[in-house]
Amino acid sequence: MKGHLPKSSELASLISNALSRRFFLQSAGLVGAGTFLAGMPIKQAFSATPSTLFDFQSLPASTSDTVLVPKGYRVDVLISWGDPILPGAPQFDPSGKGNAAAQIQQFGDNNDGMSCFPLSANRALMVVNNEYTNQEYLFDHDGSSLTADDVAKSQAAHGVSIFEIVRRDSTWAVDQQGTLNRRITANTLMHMTGPAAGHRLLKTEFDPSGTEILGTFNNCSNGKTPWGTYLTCEENVNYNFGSIAPHKPSAEQKRYDIEGGTSHYQWEQHDPRFDIVKNPNEPNRFGWIVEIDPMNPDSIPLKRSALGRFKHENAAITVNKDGYIVVYMGDDAKGEHIYRFVSKHNFDANKPQQNRNLLAEGTLYVARFNGEYDDLRGRGEWLELTHGKNGLTTEAGFADQAEVLIYARKAASIVGATTMDRPEWIAVHPDQSTVYCTLTNNSKRGSEGQSVNGPNPRADNNYGQIIRWRPLLNDHTSNEFKWDIYLLAGNPSVYDDARAGTANITPDNMFNSPDGIGFDAAGRL
Ligand code: FEO
Repeated sequence: MKGHLPKSSELASLISNALSRRFFLQSAGLVGAGTFLAGMPIKQAFSATPSTLFDFQSLPASTSDTVLVPKGYRVDVLISWGDPILPGAPQFDPSGKGNAAAQIQQFGDNNDGMSCFPLSANRALMVVNNEYTNQEYLFDHDGSSLTADDVAKSQAAHGVSIFEIVRRDSTWAVDQQGTLNRRITANTLMHMTGPAAGHRLLKTEFDPSGTEILGTFNNCSNGKTPWGTYLTCEENVNYNFGSIAPHKPSAEQKRYDIEGGTSHYQWEQHDPRFDIVKNPNEPNRFGWIVEIDPMNPDSIPLKRSALGRFKHENAAITVNKDGYIVVYMGDDAKGEHIYRFVSKHNFDANKPQQNRNLLAEGTLYVARFNGEYDDLRGRGEWLELTHGKNGLTTEAGFADQAEVLIYARKAASIVGATTMDRPEWIAVHPDQSTVYCTLTNNSKRGSEGQSVNGPNPRADNNYGQIIRWRPLLNDHTSNEFKWDIYLLAGNPSVYDDARAGTANITPDNMFNSPDGIGFDAAGRL
């Protein structure tokens, strides 16, 4: 059936048959432990160990413009855009007249990934990504035309906010006097590390060394390392670059959606660093994972080039059984890929300083999922992205390993990686048996060049799916794995074809466009 695009009803039948053939054969308690549960009704799958589940009354779907929580739970607002987080910072100005100097001391705009670092029983450090800004809300005008201070304010509203929180009675609140409080913005000094550090493609007018980069932005999701640092993931950085003069983007720029002309954020209108005609290498300095030591407010964040440049969603870290660090990463764009990094050196709990460099050196891989669209499971392999291997040669356009990493997407295509339906978050089960990845949707699958394939079986996929893989012998450094589709999201109340989703989606639990996921220590997803 390869190359044949099935009708929706045909695919629904294939999905149903595939599920009944295989996935009802097994049963287990919690997800994981080497047992695949796809197709099993969720209540049935979990019924073996009810004591491990939270006891709460599920809420019905709602369109009310507020946060609803189940009976017995409470929700508080901890912090909002513009709240002061540095000592002496001004209060938020709801008129929109607050300037860049104020914003740089205040909580940034729209949040995404975050981590909590406990400090004591009643004190913790929050590290929160500020992914993007809504220009129409950021200013006291509609944001269609910006001043130099507007651009500086927008840059200050991006990045990462770090602030201490304290618990008094039963309520957590921001401690504006916290000694670890810090803002990291689009203008904070960072160092590039790994094979791309100092490369000619990273050198600019402002940084001839190619190692001293200003800022991070479009910080989507995150990761937290076993050695106590925070990883922030640069995603849609193309929105921050443009040009005043006309520009015809190169093939490499196009692959990363870098275009000329007025950009979404208009930073190039007042900051030449973001004008790709004036500074063609500046975009190469973004699209990386950045490691931050939140316990040291004076620490310089480190960009980790060994983990590749693409639209990073999150960084799911696990310490493999032999001590090597494995990081799973999604590239959130239609038809892009899933990556894996394996460290060169192993983690040693007794050598905290040595662990600090584990993300500087290692090997990057990209996933190929074998199996046809009607199978919903198969085998897969990790393909190495190393210069000189798998066709990644000088003749193919890569002068060295740095270029393989800077143009990781191009390298992934050359080695034959599987095109995915927008990989979002990845989570490793705490028993390390299985890795889950949300594929949020892909309206262009099937209709615009990307054919359906095993883990992405639906054309015009508006609902998304969750896939998972199990590395050979639970060894996350193995290049072999088995995969299956955990669920296809959909709407079974309206559709009875492939858009209804797999059998484990019911009118009571349906959702679409899965995105953030995570496990707790007990294995609850
Ligand atoms: Fe920032 Fe992939 O969402």
